Amino acid sequence: MAHKSDLIATDIQGYLKAHEHKGLLRFITCGSVDDGKSTLIGRLLYESKLVFEDQLAALEADSKKVGTQGGELDFALLVDGLAAEREQGITIDVAYRFFSTDRRKFIVADTPGHEQYTRNMVTGASTADVAVILIDARKGVLTQTRRHSYIVSLLGIKHVVLAINKMDLVGFSKEIFDAIVQEYRDFSEQVGLEHVTAIPLSALKGDNMLERSARTPWYDGPTLMSYLETVEIEDDLQAKPFRLPVQWVNRPNQNFRGFAGTIASGVVRVGDAIRALPSGRQSRVARIVTYDGDLDEAVAGQSVTLTLTDEIDVSRGDVLAAAESPPAVADQFQSTIVWMHEEPMLPGRPYLLKMETRTVTGSITAPKYKVNVNTLEHLAAKQLELNEIGVCNISLDRPVAFDPYVDNREMGGFILIDKLSNDTVGAGLLSFALRRAENIHWQALDVNKQARSALKGQRACVLWFTGLSGAGKSTVANLVEKRLHALGRHTYTLDGDNVRHGLNKDLGFTDADRVENIRRVAEVSKLMVDAGLIVLVSFISPFRSERRLARELMDEGEFFEVFVDTPLHEAEKRDPKGLYKKARRGELKNFTGIDSPYEPPEHPEIHLRTALVSPEQAAEEILSKLRDAGMLYVPDDLSGL
Ligand code: ADX
Repeated sequence: MAHKSDLIATDIQGYLKAHEHKGLLRFITCGSVDDGKSTLIGRLLYESKLVFEDQLAALEADSKKVGTQGGELDFALLVDGLAAEREQGITIDVAYRFFSTDRRKFIVADTPGHEQYTRNMVTGASTADVAVILIDARKGVLTQTRRHSYIVSLLGIKHVVLAINKMDLVGFSKEIFDAIVQEYRDFSEQVGLEHVTAIPLSALKGDNMLERSARTPWYDGPTLMSYLETVEIEDDLQAKPFRLPVQWVNRPNQNFRGFAGTIASGVVRVGDAIRALPSGRQSRVARIVTYDGDLDEAVAGQSVTLTLTDEIDVSRGDVLAAAESPPAVADQFQSTIVWMHEEPMLPGRPYLLKMETRTVTGSITAPKYKVNVNTLEHLAAKQLELNEIGVCNISLDRPVAFDPYVDNREMGGFILIDKLSNDTVGAGLLSFALRRAENIHWQALDVNKQARSALKGQRACVLWFTGLSGAGKSTVANLVEKRLHALGRHTYTLDGDNVRHGLNKDLGFTDADRVENIRRVAEVSKLMVDAGLIVLVSFISPFRSERRLARELMDEGEFFEVFVDTPLHEAEKRDPKGLYKKARRGELKNFTGIDSPYEPPEHPEIHLRTALVSPEQAAEEILSKLRDAGMLYVPDDLSGL
């Protein structure tokens, strides 16, 4: 049963060896403390004797003092007592506990069970082989049972234990057990969970935990521990096509060039034909190098360095794959996203998308729908809030190699990171590449930006004015455009109020709409720069992320962020359109500076403090900045081609 073995006394080497080669099972427990989750985990830890002497003594003492079991061991105290050791994710609260028996090693992910903790459960479940879903026999299948099961299924966990706990409190009734199992099966089939094993338990009293209980003579299935020790986790990772996401390129000298990483799936042998993605180049495996010497063959889970027979270009983040069944390469996908941050997901905002060894920039479209995880209903949604799950399209800034998550968790899963705060904000599963991406190509045009701007005798650029409403953006932009026009420059001004009468008529002032507003204007200004114009953009553009998006769309040196810095009280005093007054009266919601944020630029190219300079001086400052940057210089060669 437990971890202590005679081998320890007689043959410590043998013991260690046996221990080393024991398989590892990762599982997650889903349920709330009320369902007896802590008691269940506590008993597994206790029975496996991985509780230290001092913890045991403390447990005995605490059980007498504050336990809920009349002085008997209160296993829940053990788990709660270990809570201080919680391994902290970034903002994620999942405790991983380790225990072991003679047959297997276990890592159990213990996640808080409240409704708002979907993100914790997703984190815990993403690496689990088995999920133990706890049910209080007195309560039966609850909304949270459904939610847990949906997420377990979504994350591709194939094996589920329906742990029907507290059977002692329902007199070990077979009828109650059967009724719960029946109700659960109807639901589990709906979400596609195939392998469900229901076990009648009393975690508290120990029934069917390790020993078969005499009080459930009608039950002939496994005990919880024997299930966990013997459940066959299909080694299907090895049966899948070979994938090695390249972690780093090892090039100690001219003669050695190896590609190191952990094999995500499949088997690789010396001589195998492989293909590097996304380039598609082919070669063969020359050597499989490890710290313990060369191998003929390596399998999923092993960390190896491959050398190839040809000098092909492979870099960190690429994937080496079986030549005959490579992963797809795409830059637009349909995906399921679990949002994990208090700030909602904003369609159009660029996020970092971290997959395996690659990190790319991607943006997410408005959800096609979100899922009510309690009823599985599809609901309309404009954005995703904390703990919401939705189906969205995503578009990356470059193509990546991937497999659908359902085929390969390692190759089809990703996390989303906020570009500015570096917080983990979501997790996602790739479903499939969007066809339209495959069918749309870049059309080569002979007349290009250089040619167009040369004909105008200028260099194209963007002056991006940002600041509060009433800061003076449009006033200064107007003066600058007049000056440029007088100098014979070709210009265009995109002004927030004006563009919102046409192209962006459909947008309001929620965060999501402002993100989309700026995304569109950034794209339009990119086109105008491509047309060879000097573009003046005058939008509040309150968020750093979208201003950065605009900057990144332009070439080096083309983007001038102009911070029109007017303190709120000053802008409010001016109030040229009477909007601040309306906002203060509560008649205008989401007004920037009042009940909607403004994130000032950190490193603007031009910083205008309007309390200190007049609009004319501000315009002059911008012109001299343009002159200094060589933007007003007339190229000699007007042909440009
Ligand atoms: S942005 O935040 O999305 O960049 P944009 O520059 O397009 O805003 O539009 C701002 C203009 O819309 C303001 O100058 C003001 O005249 C008007 N407006 C109307 N409602 C609001 C609001 N809630 N917040 C800010 N500006 C508003």
